[in-house]
Amino acid sequence: MAYQPKTLHEIIIQQQSAFPYAKGELSRLLSHIAIAAKIVHKKVNKAGLVDILGDAGNVNVQGEGQKLLDVFANETFLRSFQASGIVAGVASEENENIIIFDDNLSVNSKYVICMDPLDGSSNIDVNVSIGTIFSIYRRISPAGQKVVNEDFLQPGSKQVAAGYIIYGSSTMMVYTTGLGTTGFTLDPSIGEFCLSTLEMKTPKDGKIYSINEGNYIKFPRGVKDFIKYCQEKDEETKRPWTSRYIGSLVADFHRNLIKGGIFIYPKTEQSPNGKLRLLYECNPIAFLAEQAGGKATDGLGNRILDIKPTNIHQRVPFYTGSTNMVDKAEEFMFKYHNL
Ligand code: AHG
Ligand code: MN
Ligand code: MN
Repeated sequence: MAYQPKTLHEIIIQQQSAFPYAKGELSRLLSHIAIAAKIVHKKVNKAGLVDILGDAGNVNVQGEGQKLLDVFANETFLRSFQASGIVAGVASEENENIIIFDDNLSVNSKYVICMDPLDGSSNIDVNVSIGTIFSIYRRISPAGQKVVNEDFLQPGSKQVAAGYIIYGSSTMMVYTTGLGTTGFTLDPSIGEFCLSTLEMKTPKDGKIYSINEGNYIKFPRGVKDFIKYCQEKDEETKRPWTSRYIGSLVADFHRNLIKGGIFIYPKTEQSPNGKLRLLYECNPIAFLAEQAGGKATDGLGNRILDIKPTNIHQRVPFYTGSTNMVDKAEEFMFKYHNL
């Protein structure tokens, strides 16, 4: 039979029929994200050939040095969102304040977006997988007015859709609109994202633990003991488990989603809320994890998606992946009362 893959657009239309009153705006928005993703994909692929590797020379609001690709991805996605006319504003990891689109079309639209335009900055210059993470909400403020901070400070459970693009050995888009987690792979020969897995399901038990062990001495006692547990021999749970850590959340999560595993970015003495950002990283990943049958918490029994943000750049300790592994890690955390 001739090669005729199902494209992202076909699947979006198919899934839209589950929402009889949908006007197709969300579908169009996802298509715009796919276009921006292809532009970034092209740039990432040529990274060693064009002048895009290296530092931009600025420090962003997170206190992190911006890379040229951080800036390129941020601008590409922002431009695409505004051009879509379906987005009223964006909160980006790279911008201190929310970005308000006040042109006639955008101001009347009902969606806002939170994004990490380029995740895994430290891997940009060394040809290791990086990503883009996005999260879509319905605004709270009335359409026709400029969006306000409160539009972005909604708990993750209010997400309408979320996803990531991973620029890896192939470029993939994984997204959810609450109907399961669906994975697409970019076929560069036709320039389209094509269906890979309609309903991605993560194993309840896994054998991979992913954590930056270089920070070991700064970890809470519960996390230290959980790491020891991962390394101990046990036939029934097939331990010792294996350690895998890329340093790009998108890539670490994607691998664990498929193979089964746990990703932890805990609090440390210096950073009581860990490193990862609730709006741009943890909420969208948590939504995808849950939709695939996994779990995402702050390590102390609190579901990530239930946290009400108070600040757009807020950070949170992050434990996500296979349900039984997250439960086990939390068991150790509870034992020492988060010490
Ligand atoms: P970003 O590049 O968007 O700032 O995110 C980097 C994040 C995340 O991708 C990764 O899981 C984590 O930082 C790695 O941090 P460490 O280098 O401290 O392990
Ligand atoms: Mn990131
Ligand atoms: Mn980033």
